[in-house]
Amino acid sequence: MTIPQLPGFDQTLPFLREGYGFISNRCDRLGTDAFHTRLMLRRATCLRGEEAARVFYHPDRFTRRRGAMPPTTMRLLQDKGSVQSLEGAAHRQRKALFLRLLTDDTAERDFLALFREEWLAALEHWTARPEIVLHDEVNRILTRAVCSWVGVPQLEPRELTSMIENAGSVGPAVLGALARRRRTEARLRAVVEAARGAGAADGETPLRAIIEHRDHDGERLSPEVAVVELLNILRPVVAIGRYIMFTAMALHDHPGWRARLRDGTDRERQYFVEEVRRLYPFFPLVAGVAKAPFRWRDHGFAAGDWVILDLYGTTHDPRLFPEPQVFDPGRGLDWRRLDHGFIPQGAGDPEETHRCPGERLTVATMREAARLLTQAMSYDVPPQDLSLPLHRMPTRPARNLILSNIRRLPAGPAPDTGD
Ligand code: HEM
Repeated sequence: MTIPQLPGFDQTLPFLREGYGFISNRCDRLGTDAFHTRLMLRRATCLRGEEAARVFYHPDRFTRRRGAMPPTTMRLLQDKGSVQSLEGAAHRQRKALFLRLLTDDTAERDFLALFREEWLAALEHWTARPEIVLHDEVNRILTRAVCSWVGVPQLEPRELTSMIENAGSVGPAVLGALARRRRTEARLRAVVEAARGAGAADGETPLRAIIEHRDHDGERLSPEVAVVELLNILRPVVAIGRYIMFTAMALHDHPGWRARLRDGTDRERQYFVEEVRRLYPFFPLVAGVAKAPFRWRDHGFAAGDWVILDLYGTTHDPRLFPEPQVFDPGRGLDWRRLDHGFIPQGAGDPEETHRCPGERLTVATMREAARLLTQAMSYDVPPQDLSLPLHRMPTRPARNLILSNIRRLPAGPAPDTGD
């Protein structure tokens, strides 16, 4: 099967107009899972679907370096020297650090305890206010919890969120975000240097683990790279706030689930939030540059070819998820299966590929938020525009989800119910 060439010279404007739907709309129209086109005047091959994800996430096939992402996006999301810019043995050694920090039982338990404590403290204030903006409040909670957990002084939520909010844009907003980021980097650099100067400390925080980590060449990370990797934990943890807002929106749209999440098991909450990760739009796509020639579907890809994989289109592919627009926790999705269809945070084996190492923590935090929203509090969702414009990447509802009439429930959150 050959890969068709899209008619027209450059597709940047349609891409900005259609956003999340751009690749899938064209794949559907052409009856294909792949097409060649031009974006930002550059030749690109766009892919979607399970088989394409397998091709794209073949270990060491695509680099995220050398202009894989548009330059501002690269600077905002992944910095020079970061795990995402590494390949091969260097990537595996650095990635192991992230996986160790983010996927062990203690990390989940310690972070969730801080998250719950901050949430319950904030809840005291919410009950005294006519309404709150959930996304802003949750970002504040996550910022406080992650700074304590990582072992750095408290930062402002804005220092960590503006990098996500402006990731897809160009212009003054990006300049503002970059200036803010430079100030945050300077603060964190002082923290890294002070921690190095202080020598060994009690207990292992992520900060300690990062400054003591040795790369595959046996060297410690430079202060600049240590800061980049600290931000690679701080910033995406705060980004979980968007998924928590989507979890509350799903509860609002499917009120029948409220009692099930309140009284049910952690497994039921897990399936609910996994379906949120599948259905609600967050990361639209990932892009990479081929490192060496390879063939797929009668097409010879050359080293340097730019390839874009549609994450959103793949998690909405009806061949993988029948009636993909229907919210159905009964699909029983689970990040642990590491499959190539359910890929909101990338595909493949995270040890070997660039798949996100934060899935366990993301899902655990969403599950805990679902518990707090149903067991610890009651609230109203006043009339508001909850649509998610798909041309905006990443998208959110106009007012970031207003909740009103918040009451603390006497029982508070119940202990874990296990499966
Ligand atoms: C909020 C939900 C999250 C989403 C939607 C998300 C999404 C993604 C995506 C799409 C990638 C890129 C995969 C690729 O290039 O192939 C990625 C990579 C990454 N994510 Fe996440 N992520 C989330 C949460 C987290 C969390 C909580 C952490 C850490 C605490 C984290 C840390 C990272 C790192 C370090 C990478 C680079 C991995 C590598 O290059 O090997 N993410 N994430």
